[in-house]
Amino acid sequence: MELFEQYISNMYAYEQEFYELLVAEVDKVIAKNYDFKGSLFDTRGDDLKMLLQANQWIFWSLWDYLEGYHTYKKDDQDEVSILQDKGIYIAKSFFTPKEVSELLLDWGESIESVPEITEEMHQKSLLNRFYFETINDVGYTIGSIHDGKKRVMHFTKNSVPKYFDKHLRKNNFLNSIVQKYYNFKREIEPSTVMAEHLYPPKYYREYEAWHIDNLADQFKIMVILEDMTEDDAPFIYVEGTHKIKEKYKDRYHKMYATNGMVTQEQNHFEASFTETSLVKKGILKAGDVILFDCRLHHSATFAKNGGNRKNIMLYYNSLPTAKNKFLFKIDKYLKFGLK
Ligand SMILES: [Fe+2]
Repeated sequence: MELFEQYISNMYAYEQEFYELLVAEVDKVIAKNYDFKGSLFDTRGDDLKMLLQANQWIFWSLWDYLEGYHTYKKDDQDEVSILQDKGIYIAKSFFTPKEVSELLLDWGESIESVPEITEEMHQKSLLNRFYFETINDVGYTIGSIHDGKKRVMHFTKNSVPKYFDKHLRKNNFLNSIVQKYYNFKREIEPSTVMAEHLYPPKYYREYEAWHIDNLADQFKIMVILEDMTEDDAPFIYVEGTHKIKEKYKDRYHKMYATNGMVTQEQNHFEASFTETSLVKKGILKAGDVILFDCRLHHSATFAKNGGNRKNIMLYYNSLPTAKNKFLFKIDKYLKFGLK
């Protein structure tokens, strides 16, 4: 503990020593199967959060070290290697037309269950882009007239519609890709299955809200339910941007320093921040599936000329990576932002 005090009081002079102290602590906690009790992350959590906000070198060094626990060893599963390299993998014609029609049944029932929007809800959606409500453990998100989006979230700890459950939640192949991508020993499944409908907003616009979804480790899979054209709000993205390049670090660290691991308010950026000359557009067909690391730079475009997009999104939240476990452990501290 004396060393800890000495290092933290001189956090720039002793950054290498402090990093080594933290790494030793990480190894100890992991050796005890993530038992944090008595560790520095348990007893000095607020100090560590302050340190990681204040010292970017220690933050990124620790980040890389934690990531090392999930280094995937290439095998012959191409999808996983492509994902590692590009941050996104598109599986064409993954679902058969029969499976797509079954998924569309659950999708249609979900979207039809969205509550009728009242004037009060409409006003709330104008304040915050979306109106949110949870009814009987199902989450509803209704976009404002300027967004043209409806989302119905089925949390898998509760119940999930029949075909969503059969084809998506319990899809061993999709789940195994995510498992391999993060080098997990145990099987995982999505935490949420969401039906989503994008339709034209009141006025079409070309504003592209480039963003990452999360600084924390998170993965999503999107299932396309109808053949698309340019008018159907294609997903846009830049391959390879899931890797944290040197030029991203300042901004991402600031996201962490102000918002913590879940960077909801800070995760949007101007187009010039990413390599928008390399933008790809997902104009896809029914049954195609997009798998992506949520740190990929991406956005949705707006539907136009009466177009619309029907899709399902699988969310793999709270992934049990070392990074998520250690950094979320201290994330409750110092959520002061700059408000
Ligand atoms: Fe997103």
